[in-house]
Amino acid sequence: MDTVVSGIRPTGNLHLGNYFGALRNFIKMQNENNCYFFIADYHSLTTHPTPADLHGNVKSVLVDYLAAGLDPEKATLYLQSDLPETAELYLFLNMNAYLGELERVTSFKDKARSQPDNINAGLLTYPTLMAADIIIHRAQKVPVGKDQEQHLEMTRTFANRFNRLYHTEYFPEPVAYNFGEQLVKIPGLDGSTKMGKSEGEGNAIFLIDEPAVIRKKVMKAVTDSGPTEPNQPKPQAIENIFNLMKALSKPETLSFFEEEYNQCRIRYGDMKKQLAEDIIIFTDPLREKIREISADEKYLHRVVRLGKEKAHESASKTINEVREIIGFKAF
Ligand code: TRP
Repeated sequence: MDTVVSGIRPTGNLHLGNYFGALRNFIKMQNENNCYFFIADYHSLTTHPTPADLHGNVKSVLVDYLAAGLDPEKATLYLQSDLPETAELYLFLNMNAYLGELERVTSFKDKARSQPDNINAGLLTYPTLMAADIIIHRAQKVPVGKDQEQHLEMTRTFANRFNRLYHTEYFPEPVAYNFGEQLVKIPGLDGSTKMGKSEGEGNAIFLIDEPAVIRKKVMKAVTDSGPTEPNQPKPQAIENIFNLMKALSKPETLSFFEEEYNQCRIRYGDMKKQLAEDIIIFTDPLREKIREISADEKYLHRVVRLGKEKAHESASKTINEVREIIGFKAF
């Protein structure tokens, strides 16, 4: 059984992009692997040192995870800040992480550009913390998207370097966990290729959105005046609507609108109405569960405590062994 680790930053409620991109696969993975899924609340401080509602955002992600079907008995669900061993390993890894290599990381350069008044050391060492998250459980696999590949490469570098410096083979080199064709990229409603929270109001549909909100957002999705000739390639915004339908509607619904498009008969209003209803059918039971779990403070408390215990069991073993490998000894 492989050990799998993945983290998500606590950005608040999850949207369909999160669901189809990662969550759905996590739910499958938890049956076949030793999974650690955590909420990266330490990491959020690299961009938001004084977060407005850290606890609320952590809770939203946790509740959405549980509602979607992550099972705290099967997988280990925990908060990064409940595992100080991660911070200690981060400290050790930072001793062997070099300014040059950290400065070259794309995400650092992007963030340095977008927050020039807050280019802090945490931002620079984001990849070291992420490496610590992963190797604290000595994971072999990390289910991440394209945007995290460079961070995973850094993780391998740090794990390798540790092994080399301390003459050990203690840490495995974690690889990306690819789900192949199952990876569905959910586009945004604003014509952009990615559904995301930061892309602006109306671009994303959240798992908790009420039917009326979903209808409104979908009806506002960017379209055009339609094809003028049969069998034309689709402009991006139109392709997006079709891709959403592919993920959420029945195959026959999709092929009906494909045909309408190819015959230049398509009425985007009708298509969007149908898409909105199919999204609602999908999110209805989730929204119901989110509401229930969110109100159940006792259950959430139990879930978080169990996750902390299970994560601590794995992490404390690692950190003790790491201390010994480096040369710390008890008196
Ligand atoms: N950097 C990841 C992201 O932004 C979040 C993350 C933090 C993570 N630590 C991790 C992902 C460890 C996988 C493994 O999406």
